[in-house]
Amino acid sequence: MRRPLIAGNWKMNLTRDEAVNLARGVGAAAGDGEVDVLVCPTFVHLEGVISAVEGSKVAVGGQDVYFESNGAFTGETSTAMLGDLGCQYVILGHSERRNVIGESDKLINQKLHAALAAGLKPILCVGELLEQREANETMAVVKSQLDGSLENVTAEQMANVVIAYEPVWAIGTGKTASPEQAQEVHADLRSLLATRYNQEVSDGVRILYGGSVKPANAADLMACPDIDGALVGGAALKADSFAEIIAAAG
Ligand code: G3P
Repeated sequence: MRRPLIAGNWKMNLTRDEAVNLARGVGAAAGDGEVDVLVCPTFVHLEGVISAVEGSKVAVGGQDVYFESNGAFTGETSTAMLGDLGCQYVILGHSERRNVIGESDKLINQKLHAALAAGLKPILCVGELLEQREANETMAVVKSQLDGSLENVTAEQMANVVIAYEPVWAIGTGKTASPEQAQEVHADLRSLLATRYNQEVSDGVRILYGGSVKPANAADLMACPDIDGALVGGAALKADSFAEIIAAAG
């Protein structure tokens, strides 16, 4: 009942030509099956990528956005700017923004409200650091990230929110969470949503897994009952490996 979503987070990679070629490759590979497909290039490549996927089922999203609508915010991009280009999604609270740039749950919450108000679908990322997992703090960490980032977001609005669980120790490290480890956290996230909202929200929200997803492990992860797709970094930079991950979700 939850439609799988395979999203590529291209991060700060690729030249413009490489981005456009990759987008064409993903467009050709995406088919018209039962899987939603999304690519999130860097801001400066959005326009070229959006043109390149025209006519395919591939959606395009931003990797971040600012919450103010316009003004003196040097370096920032507004929700209207993303919407105007044709973006449908935006990644928020990625661990690199939380841990490298220093974003707080409060800021992520402001961005999430702005995205929803502009008709963008936020992909809210949560996930624990290695030392937090080792200290058995995983659920406390993701609960606090979820609570802070979703403050004042209503049950109705949750129909347009996607959650991505990305354990930080599995990102770009080649160390994937095992399907059992990922499923356990996804199931707990779903229970948190049921408590916070209701069973309908809990059953309806798509929860993606991210962290070293590749063709070799995608099918086992996607077979887990509470994993509804993937947020893919490195393996999304090659059309053929991304296509295999899409196929594994179908
Ligand atoms: O957002 C996707 C991500 O952080 C995972 O990256 O390279 O481990 O697939 P990667």
